[in-house]
Amino acid sequence: MNRQIQIFDTTLRDGEQSPGYSMNKSEKLRLARQLERLGADVIEAGFPIASDGDFDTVKKIAETVTESSVAGLCRTRPIDIETAAKAVEKARKPRIHTFIATSDIHMKYKLCKTREEVVDSAVKAVELARSYCDDVEFSAEDASRSDPQFLYEIFEAAISAGATVINVPDTVGYALPWEFGELIKGIKENVSNIDDAVLSVHCHNDLGLAVANSLFAVQNGAEQVECTINGIGERAGNASLEEIVMAIETRKNNMNYSTGIRTKEIYPASQLLAQITGKGVQPNKAIVGDNAFAHEAGIHQHGVLKNPLCYEIMTPESVGLTCNKIVIGKHSGRFALGKKLEEMGYQLNKDELNTAYKSVTRLADKKKVVDDHDLISIMAMMRNQPAPEPQKIASGG
Ligand code: KIV
Ligand code: ZN
Repeated sequence: MNRQIQIFDTTLRDGEQSPGYSMNKSEKLRLARQLERLGADVIEAGFPIASDGDFDTVKKIAETVTESSVAGLCRTRPIDIETAAKAVEKARKPRIHTFIATSDIHMKYKLCKTREEVVDSAVKAVELARSYCDDVEFSAEDASRSDPQFLYEIFEAAISAGATVINVPDTVGYALPWEFGELIKGIKENVSNIDDAVLSVHCHNDLGLAVANSLFAVQNGAEQVECTINGIGERAGNASLEEIVMAIETRKNNMNYSTGIRTKEIYPASQLLAQITGKGVQPNKAIVGDNAFAHEAGIHQHGVLKNPLCYEIMTPESVGLTCNKIVIGKHSGRFALGKKLEEMGYQLNKDELNTAYKSVTRLADKKKVVDDHDLISIMAMMRNQPAPEPQKIASGG
């Protein structure tokens, strides 16, 4: 049976928390609207107690967004919960997300609390949150390094207190996929009331495993995945929304899941985030990087031009790009060059194509990518026409 996985986007909270990614109120609002267009089930809009600005922003997003749930994060302290409740109260679908650490190291050094005290704080927090809001998520921070028996205990207590979502964070990105999958399976099997709540995961990318861990969790029963656009987030980031969604979409033959994400809005969301923060996406980033649908090697170009499926497992259009990119460089072949020049309006016979190809490879030895302007100059020189800015070729660009 096909299972729909809830997508909880935390770009505006965990993502925004990372160095260099802070956004102001109007920027966050623009991004929240795009996340709604994208079809995120939940938008975590911020941490309302953190500052007056954060509170105002979460409130504004809650008043604006109507399709997605809007969540505000809070610790277990009553003042945190009351502030989060106030910030999301006008949302059509509000959620309060409260968390406390459950690993021995965090309880001992950060919280200075015993296990009993932590369970008590969690229960009281969930009860208070439920007095304001019907949808309450409880997270056990550093769950992947917590004693599983203790997790079963605290989750059972949180659900009994009224939690509607139970979240299992791999806060420090320490888990291995099969290990994290086992943890989720254990929670499913040992928390007696787990079916009364949605089981969620929240993975960080310190070992580059956040997406793999999230997918293993889904395979073992997780129903909600927390993630961010472009994978931004604390330290090495969070699980990337676009990678999780497109893995599920592309490999439906292996995983019988779906999401409510409108995949054509993925690229616009990624670009909007990059534009707002001034932080570009690494070129080889899966799905949304500049090179994700670019082909330079001759053999690849030949294959893609004949049938894109030779080297593309999803279409660029499916994630909101208009087409793939054939890059002319030193690895390109005559076939791709001919096609490219044809698209630019040049009809070349075999000899002309050979001459153009020699000029292109010579130039490509000097500069990494031969762009349209270079090709126009090469064609102009070949045809004894005035070349626009010929110095660009001579200098190698
Ligand atoms: O990484 C983490 O543990 C978190 C929680 C607050 C969910 O971001
Ligand atoms: Zn996190």
